[in-house]
Amino acid sequence: MLDKIKEHLQDIENAIVTDAKELEVFRVNYLGSKGLLKGFFNEFKNIPNEHKKEFGKTLNDFKKSAQGKFDELQQKIQSSGVKKESPQLDLTLPGYPVNVGSRHPVSIIINEMNDIFSKIGFIIKESFEIEDDWHNFSALNFPEEHPARDMQDTFFIESKIKQALRTHTSSVQVRVMENEQPPIRIIAPGRVFRNEAISARSHCIFHQVEGLYIDKNVSFADMKQTLLYFAKEFFGKAKIRLRPSYFPFTEPSAEMDVYWGLETEVDHKITKGTGWLEVLGCGMVDPNVLDNCGIDSKIYSGYAFGIGVERIAMQRFNIPDIRMIFENDVRFLKQFTQVV
Ligand code: PHE
Repeated sequence: MLDKIKEHLQDIENAIVTDAKELEVFRVNYLGSKGLLKGFFNEFKNIPNEHKKEFGKTLNDFKKSAQGKFDELQQKIQSSGVKKESPQLDLTLPGYPVNVGSRHPVSIIINEMNDIFSKIGFIIKESFEIEDDWHNFSALNFPEEHPARDMQDTFFIESKIKQALRTHTSSVQVRVMENEQPPIRIIAPGRVFRNEAISARSHCIFHQVEGLYIDKNVSFADMKQTLLYFAKEFFGKAKIRLRPSYFPFTEPSAEMDVYWGLETEVDHKITKGTGWLEVLGCGMVDPNVLDNCGIDSKIYSGYAFGIGVERIAMQRFNIPDIRMIFENDVRFLKQFTQVV
C-alpha cells in the first residue's frame, strides 16, 4: 500500500494541466470526495497498528503534495487567463492612421473626358476586351491580310473563332452601330492591348477614349468644332490644328494637335520645341464602315476620334515613365489623393 501511495506521489509531482477543465480532473482524481486521498484514508483502519504511524505520515505527505500541486497549477492557469482576457491597452497612444484610397491617374483623365463629352450629349458605352476579328478589324475596313493590320500589333487568342485582345475601342463603335440607328453620339473609354515592347514611353496595355457621332449631314466642320470644344475644356487651350493622316476606317483622316505655346522650358520639352502637342487621331467615318454595320451611308455620315489616355496622363501629372502607371506602387498612387 505504501508503495502504491509513493507511486502516486511521483505522478502528482509530474502533473501538468493546460486549462481549468484539466485542473478540475486533477482535483477530482486526488482530492475529491471519491478521490485517491479519501480512499487511502478509508484504508487506515485496515492497517496493522505497528504500521499505522508510517502510513499516517505517508498519507499526510500525499495530502500536502496533492493540495500543494493543485494550488500551484491553479495559480498558473489563473495568471495565464488574466493575460488573455485583458490585453495591455494604452488608451493614450495615438490611433492607427486610416488609409484612404485615391483615384488612379488613368481614371482621373477618363472621368474628366467622360464629363466633358457627356455635357454635349455623348453617351458612354463599354464592351468586351476580347474581340472577334470582325468587330476589331474587318467591319472597320481592315481587309484580311491587308498591311494596315500591321499598324496594330495584335495579341491573338487561340480559339476556334478568330479572337484577339482588342487593339482599340473602335470595336465598341462597331457594336453600337450594329445595334442602333442614328443619331448615334457615343464615347467608348476602355483598356486596349498591343503586342509592343514595353519601354518608358510605350506599353502593351493602355487606355483609349474613342468618340463617334453619326447623323444626317454631319460634316468635317462639325468634327473640328467638337474637338476644339474638347481642347478648350480639357487643356484650356483655344487653338488646334488638323494634320492629314491615315486610318482604314476614316476618310479623310487627321491627327489633331493642340497649340500649347512655347513660353516656358516645360512647354519646349513637352512639345519638342514645336509649340504643338499631338493629342488624338480622327476622321470622317468611311462609308464602307457604315454599310458594314447596317447604317445607310447614302443617308448618314459621321466622324470618329480616338484619344490615348496614358500619354495625356503622363503629360498632365508629369509622370516620366509609362510603366509607373501599371505598377500600382502605393507610393506612386498616393500622390493622387488630392486630385479628384
Ligand atoms: N482607333 C484608332 C487607333 O487606335 C484611333 C482613331 C479612332 C482614329 C477614331 C481615328 C478615328 O489608333
